Amino acid sequence: SLPDIQASKLEIVTTKSPKPLPSSSDLVFGRTFTDHMLTIPWTANTGWGIPKIQPYGPLSLQPSATVFHYAQELFEGLKAYRDTTGRVTMFRPDMNMKRMNTSAKRVALPNFDGNAVIELLKELIRKDKHWIPDIPGYSLYIRPTLIGTQAALGVQPPDEALLFVICSPVGPYYPTGFKPVALYGTTEYSRAAPGGIGSYKLGANYAPGVVAQREAAAKGYAQNLWLHGPEHHITEVGTMNTMIVFEQPNGVTELVTPPLDGMILPGVTRDSVLTLAREHAEGKTLIEGLPEPGKLVVNERPVTMKEVKEAGQDGRLVEFFGTGTAAVISPVNKIGYLGQDIMIPTGEDGMGPVSRPIWKQLVGIQSGIISHPWSVTV
Ligand code: COI
Repeated sequence: SLPDIQASKLEIVTTKSPKPLPSSSDLVFGRTFTDHMLTIPWTANTGWGIPKIQPYGPLSLQPSATVFHYAQELFEGLKAYRDTTGRVTMFRPDMNMKRMNTSAKRVALPNFDGNAVIELLKELIRKDKHWIPDIPGYSLYIRPTLIGTQAALGVQPPDEALLFVICSPVGPYYPTGFKPVALYGTTEYSRAAPGGIGSYKLGANYAPGVVAQREAAAKGYAQNLWLHGPEHHITEVGTMNTMIVFEQPNGVTELVTPPLDGMILPGVTRDSVLTLAREHAEGKTLIEGLPEPGKLVVNERPVTMKEVKEAGQDGRLVEFFGTGTAAVISPVNKIGYLGQDIMIPTGEDGMGPVSRPIWKQLVGIQSGIISHPWSVTV
């Protein structure tokens, strides 16, 4: 069989002109890039080639490369943190590698050994670790990407591909604390369809969302809420997964998110929030501040806008928030839906009784205050 990615073959070319480090107050998400990038070429005849860490810079590709024509592209997003002891960690990189291979399969791009790429990510991060701001809430956003590079206009599996990774120092998504956002329930477009590509992290899922986002913004809403089907099932919020908290008639608090039915991106933060909430609800690892076990249930089930609207009217809509790697948790205070606004309560800090303790736990793990196997030492 053809060679897989071999971390031991790594070649390193160090930049001769390191860039000045940005001041942390200037950081806008994803606009500043570190000194180096990782590239790993692939061909159908020779398999994966030599991994290389080299100066960050332009790629040279044929204009006929399949990525430019048929969207043979997928990406990942994960973060590296400098924790309170100075240790650098990545958060759950195995999840990203697994999803990257799943995405690759869906668009006939090559699979690879995720563990080898995790080792190479460590090398890249070590090389540029001085770019991770030493401030709570700051991190290094890592963007692994895989593209088809064959110079060919035929629609077919590319026989050449390139895996590359770039890194961007980022601050907290909301520099002044959590700012709840207003959503516009989009009924004009859908993000995903049954049997489609919504559950894969393909670039092709994101370009069409920009127009929906822009139209939501023009109507005075910060983001759009993606709905699906005649009953307007809730799917995602902008580029994030959706979580809803209901108070059930029996007084139990229910944390709900739509199930992974093929239209939902299997988010790492989504999975982390569900796991932490379930471990608490099962009495395994208690999280201070959450409703006590027995008073909290966690469900992956379909939710319609009708249910959300009625819960709002009955005063049983406790929280609505997005989860994602970039913003971690993004609280929502209003949903514009068919000409009416549904209001959602938020606390003084922008969060609510379920998101606040879970966010604290998650950030505690990511910053190394809470020791957890999800943090992988670089
Ligand atoms: C997220 O982290 O929430 C994302 O989906 C990444 C985004 C920048 C596309």
